[in-house]
Amino acid sequence: MGTTFTIGGDLEVRRLGYGAMRITGDGIWGPPDDPEAAKAVLRRVLELGVNLIDTADSYGPEVSENLIAEALHPYPDDLVIATKGGLRRTGPGEWPTDAHPDRLRECCEGSLRRLRVDRIDLYQLHRPDPQVPLEDSLGALKELPDEGKIRHIGVSNVSVEQLERSRAVVDVVTVQNRYNLADRRAEDVLDACDAAGIGFIPWFPLATGDLARPGGPLDEIARAHDAKPGQLAIAWLLARSPVVLPIPGTASEQHLKENVAAAGLELEPDELERLAGAA
Ligand SMILES: NC(=O)c1ccc[n+]([C@@H]2O[C@H](COP(=O)([O-])OP(=O)(O)OC[C@H]3O[C@@H](n4cnc5c(N)ncnc54)[C@H](OP(=O)(O)O)[C@@H]3O)[C@@H](O)[C@H]2O)c1
Repeated sequence: MGTTFTIGGDLEVRRLGYGAMRITGDGIWGPPDDPEAAKAVLRRVLELGVNLIDTADSYGPEVSENLIAEALHPYPDDLVIATKGGLRRTGPGEWPTDAHPDRLRECCEGSLRRLRVDRIDLYQLHRPDPQVPLEDSLGALKELPDEGKIRHIGVSNVSVEQLERSRAVVDVVTVQNRYNLADRRAEDVLDACDAAGIGFIPWFPLATGDLARPGGPLDEIARAHDAKPGQLAIAWLLARSPVVLPIPGTASEQHLKENVAAAGLELEPDELERLAGAA
């Protein structure tokens, strides 16, 4: 199993990233209770060798990007920060879509400012906007690499058909969709990414649902490896395809350590089969 993946042909990242959505207040709204602790987690992310951080302008909003810059700027050369645009925030837990071309440009400018960078490594369309032709949203993003504002383009929450339409407009280097052991509705999108060598960033990677119940399939295999069910969920994702880049999110240094350690967990082929079959 390869331990790294190269995004867009030139950004080599270790195959376990960090999702920075959970370092905000409840409902991914406002500042966290303890901003210093959140910044300590971010510094620990780098100390543990992680060099891919996923965020979005909408996390907080603005809180996650600001904390990343406060904790980590100036950034090490090999750190890849992926952010997203195309949503608005109207309150805790509310995420209306707005991927109009002008709005996407505005989102990108805000992220550049908050992250304190001249160019964003990976800029992702957070979600296709049903009110805006996908080609128009991507048409706006297409101009940004030429202007030196972003390096690569990713999409998120897309179907296979939307991915193909996106690829007709821009070079899509990553797809970020909800996918985990217990929720594999994006299987066809992952297969399409695998076939095209596109990075697949599964969000909500730790969900194990019922599979982790005492006596369930995860529980048994976890005990055999002296591991936690969530670690198995990560190890399974990493084994699923070499293009998979999990980004588990946590505000806890202890959980972060566990998640990073999961990348070193080797599951036997029969264990992987049992896990896949159980889901
Ligand atoms: N593109 C999109 O639409 C989209 C949507 C959602 C998320 N995302 C991205 O995906 C990332 C991951 O998704 P997610 O945060 O929703 O899901 P997740 O990583 O599967 O789960 C995070 C939750 O699990 C807990 N957790 C983390 N590590 C743990 C451990 N070792 N043991 C027990 N609990 C643990 C966290 O709580 P603690 O803080 O207590 O550890 C948190 O509540 C986000 O940070 C974000 O960057 C993208």
